[in-house]
Amino acid sequence: GKGGYDHYMLKEINEQPTALGRSVRGRADPEAGTVDLDGFPPGTFEGIERVHLVAMGTSYHAAMYAESLLASRGVPARAFMASEYATAPPPAEDGTLVVAISQSGETADTIAAVRAASAERTLVVTNVVGSSLTRECDDALLVRAGPEIGVAATKSFSSQVATLSLLAERLRRDVVGSPSPDAAAFLSALTALPDQVQQVVESGAAERVADSFADSEAYFFIGRGPGHAVALEGALKFKEITYEHAEGFTAAELKHGPLALVTEDTPVFAVFDGRDGDTETLGNVQEIRARGGPVVAVASGDAPDVADAVDHVLPVPATHPDLVGVLANVQLQLVAYHAAKRRGRSIDKPRNLAKSVTV
Ligand code: M6R
Repeated sequence: GKGGYDHYMLKEINEQPTALGRSVRGRADPEAGTVDLDGFPPGTFEGIERVHLVAMGTSYHAAMYAESLLASRGVPARAFMASEYATAPPPAEDGTLVVAISQSGETADTIAAVRAASAERTLVVTNVVGSSLTRECDDALLVRAGPEIGVAATKSFSSQVATLSLLAERLRRDVVGSPSPDAAAFLSALTALPDQVQQVVESGAAERVADSFADSEAYFFIGRGPGHAVALEGALKFKEITYEHAEGFTAAELKHGPLALVTEDTPVFAVFDGRDGDTETLGNVQEIRARGGPVVAVASGDAPDVADAVDHVLPVPATHPDLVGVLANVQLQLVAYHAAKRRGRSIDKPRNLAKSVTV
């Protein structure tokens, strides 16, 4: 059942601390700066030279997030929409690891991508034991988020990113030959993430923001790096359950076209992750506000220059820059949820959509 919540989606948003704990527990040793993935001991990925991540929808956004994590760890990686990979697979090359990401393990487009890559080594990161993709792929890594009923993927995304974070550290060690320089700090931040997600779900800020923009024409989401993946995911969640026009962009992309859409009726949600790129994102925010566009920053509460430059802040606790996106995404899940609830939408079963897209 819904355990006292109005919707499965809200229940699953609230389950994220537990789900994340399960994804990470016993798999990360922050003191030693090492990961211990069952079935993937050190050396598992020796000989791998590049990673292709294939997925659809929310899982594709987790793939984009992982692409950033891998690239910054010196592991060449590219995220592909699984459908495009299946249509035009890159040439088979020795040393490629194809990582499929799928909550259900049953997504037809993702299965097609794995079949198109049959000459490569394949690994699925999935939430469902015994799903089709676990049979199609050479190896499976479970995200352990627990069953997800709401059509809108929530806790599965957080747990996918956590699991892919561990995989990124394993790959870094095997591909580059040494752990990431800040592996200990990263893994300790990963271990602290469940409590921080708990703080976000208890904060109440997202509902107030959703209420302030109840009558807007469209909703835009911007970010860079992992924050770009989160911007796309924020927009997908918002359009999926509110039926409003929502779009995500890289922050820099705005001035190359989308800025033409910005008016005082189009709030823009900007993800700040505490990296150098924040300065540029702040510049993009000023361009939006100069056109009258309201801006909501999703940022670490202790970034004072951001708070002064925007209309609202959805605060997230301070963490490793690679993990700010997970916390920011929870704020955006809550904004979408409250905006959809206000509009009386069918939150757990949005029109035209199915939980598992097997065709
Ligand atoms: O089960 P999968 O992760 O393979 O599903 C992929 C997409 O169909 C899924 O993430 C979809 O985009 C969600 N409804 C998003 O909330």
